[in-house]
Amino acid sequence: MNITNKTVLVTGGGSGIGLEIARLLSAKNNKVIITGRTADKLQKAAAGLTNVTAIAADVTNAGDVKKLVATINADFGGLDILINNAGNAYVYNLGVNASAAEKALDEFNTNFFSVLSLTEQFLPALIASPEAAIVTVTSILALTPRSTLPTYSASKAALHSYTQALRFELAKTTKIKVFELMPPLVNTDFSKDIGGENGIPPSQVADDLISAFEKDEYEIHVGNTAQIYSLSPVDAFNAINQ
Ligand SMILES: NC(=O)c1ccc[n+]([C@@H]2O[C@H](COP(=O)([O-])OP(=O)(O)OC[C@H]3O[C@@H](n4cnc5c(N)ncnc54)[C@H](OP(=O)(O)O)[C@@H]3O)[C@@H](O)[C@H]2O)c1
Repeated sequence: MNITNKTVLVTGGGSGIGLEIARLLSAKNNKVIITGRTADKLQKAAAGLTNVTAIAADVTNAGDVKKLVATINADFGGLDILINNAGNAYVYNLGVNASAAEKALDEFNTNFFSVLSLTEQFLPALIASPEAAIVTVTSILALTPRSTLPTYSASKAALHSYTQALRFELAKTTKIKVFELMPPLVNTDFSKDIGGENGIPPSQVADDLISAFEKDEYEIHVGNTAQIYSLSPVDAFNAINQ
């Protein structure tokens, strides 16, 4: 697909992978909106780029999402590309007193339910766009869990499943393309408790997304994700959890 002169929303665009995606898309003459909960971080990120607008919003807050959708439709005349990138994770071991349900609720609210809500609310604008796309950012852990990120892995598995169903359904009645970005370990704030310094730079993930847009490659196995997904499920699990 063509990725110039479009209006793009990047959730979690104030840092890490989202910020690198915003940087590349703004350089390609797109109007980019970045959102996140921390207004000053967003403002600082937007100030370093051209054509980038910061709008503070919590994607798990129904009121914030409703306001965000209304603002983008009113101020930008709609949306062409929705990039569902905001995410959070708890690193822990399952067992007695792990509070897994509480952690999973928080992770699923950010990583899964917010994506359903944003996607549905932006669908009318995306349908009206001549060439639109939705991106979900899952993970190398979407198909193979890491035991110390148990409910995060489950949230990304749910998002992977939803993404496949959404792509299939939207292809029946719309021209909206549905992409899934599946990064391995990436060196961002997010991964500092899981050895993120050994991960690839977020700019590499953004580069891969841009090239996948240009090639209409819908499931994007970034870096080591490709090797892990070439293994059998058992070997992949052992490789991730060694
Ligand atoms: N880093 C990795 O190793 C890795 C690997 C595979 C997949 N991923 C995925 O990549 C995506 C981006 O992560 P990253 O590594 O770039 O980490 P990051 O730099 O921490 O970025 C995450 C962003 O999401 C925002 N965010 C979190 N909760 C939010 C909420 N409720 N509402 C709005 N924004 C929210 C954060 O901003 P605020 O805190 O200001 O809201 C932050 O800017 C995530 O979906 C993550 O699961 C990361």
